[in-house]
Amino acid sequence: MAERRYNIGVFDSGFGGLSILKEIRQLLPDYSYIYLGDNARAPYGTRSFETVYRYTLEAVTKLFEMDCSLIVIACNTASAKALRNIQQCDLHKFGDDKRVLGIIRPCTEIANTFTHNNNLGIVATKGTVSSKSYEIEIKKFFPNIHITAHACPMWVPIVENGEYASDGADFFVKKELDALLTENPNIDALLLGCTHYPLLLPKIRKHLPEHISIIQQGDIVAHSLQQYLSKHISIESALKKTNEIQFFTTDSQESFNAIGSHFLSETIQAQQIQL
Ligand code: DGL
Repeated sequence: MAERRYNIGVFDSGFGGLSILKEIRQLLPDYSYIYLGDNARAPYGTRSFETVYRYTLEAVTKLFEMDCSLIVIACNTASAKALRNIQQCDLHKFGDDKRVLGIIRPCTEIANTFTHNNNLGIVATKGTVSSKSYEIEIKKFFPNIHITAHACPMWVPIVENGEYASDGADFFVKKELDALLTENPNIDALLLGCTHYPLLLPKIRKHLPEHISIIQQGDIVAHSLQQYLSKHISIESALKKTNEIQFFTTDSQESFNAIGSHFLSETIQAQQIQL
């Protein structure tokens, strides 16, 4: 009898995780992926710890039921507020061969490569900023890096509503970047600590002084996953390698197809599911 093979699950509160999935698939095209966006309940960034944990656990459970064995939580807010609890309290219930990874740790491990003057800016959701996850993790590796984290509560709704190229987006992008630079004018690098923000990249570049470099997470997370798979042979060998991808959303599939296609630069056919 043929051995059972599994998918890699990629989860986000909405569209943002597609910016991570895009890079993962580019680097690791052979595997089979299931993307789940909880668009009906996005944004997560303003929700309580308990709510983000509950929603994320429901999504993770669904992805395991859909034959995923390895899940990447491609959402900073969920990685900050739910990942540790899920890994420590829930994962064992799904079986020994199941894994859940987040996207904060891979970025913090190499934070020294982002900044030359040890002044790193991070833009993220309120939830990620108030969790202080980036500060705590980066301090463990690089105590000399001074982090200025700034919450941008309007950026996710702008992206979720497809307004990322509008004049309104210019206003809110400039407003938050100005506030960040007032807080710390010395930053020489800005980490986009929310997976929705890459769609705002042209606006962020436009309103950020040229000497400040912009760090996106997709490529970092993809390389970290590649390294993880090369070190965990039993997990890797159980993965399906049929180069397939399926998309699921908890909200309208039409709007997921329309906006999601911009994230991936390809046509998407999503299916609606309930968590
Ligand atoms: N994309 C998610 C992140 O990386 C947050 C979006 C939301 O607020 O739901 O934090």
